Amino acid sequence: MKLKAALFCSVAALATAGVSAAEPTPAERAVGYRKGVFHAIAWNFGPMAGMVKKEIPFDADDFALRAQRVAFLSTLPLEGFIPDSRVGNTDAKPAVWEEMDEFKSMMQTFETEAATLAEVAKDANEVTAVRAQFAKVGQACKDCHDKFKED
Ligand code: HEC
Repeated sequence: MKLKAALFCSVAALATAGVSAAEPTPAERAVGYRKGVFHAIAWNFGPMAGMVKKEIPFDADDFALRAQRVAFLSTLPLEGFIPDSRVGNTDAKPAVWEEMDEFKSMMQTFETEAATLAEVAKDANEVTAVRAQFAKVGQACKDCHDKFKED
């Protein structure tokens, strides 16, 4: 018991030391958060694009599930663009903060188009039913990246 407690304390001390040494700032955490969300979006969007391009067979259930995830995930990144968080390893252009109203409006378009895609995908039995709406979501990504993200 005593040994266990001693071990626990030294592990805890090590963990605390490690954390305090590399503690990210709020701005760095915001960058990590929004990039993580974009990775999750891209993770789900990739197979959907593959199906639309007929690189992989259309799987209606899988497409609908991923469309639902993207619709939900699209509501998350905006929160990560906190003031003064153009720090470290970020590709966000200064325009995000200089033209925040337009950035928000593009994010809103993305959310709306992604929600519509999730609806359309619910009863889509073939890829032709989702193609046009998928393209609108893809366009929303591209429009925003063209203006607000470094290549
Ligand atoms: C309203 C703007 C906006 C929309 C819409 C948007 N993005 Fe982004 N995206 C950004 C910005 C800004 C960054 C850069 C974030 C950073 O590096 O801090 C980014 C970064 C990324 C990254 C790179 C993350 C990294 O680690 O460098 C991926 C991947 C990505 N977006 C995918 C997508 C996909 C896929 C969509 C659409 C389904 C999408 N984004 C829609 C603005 C947007």
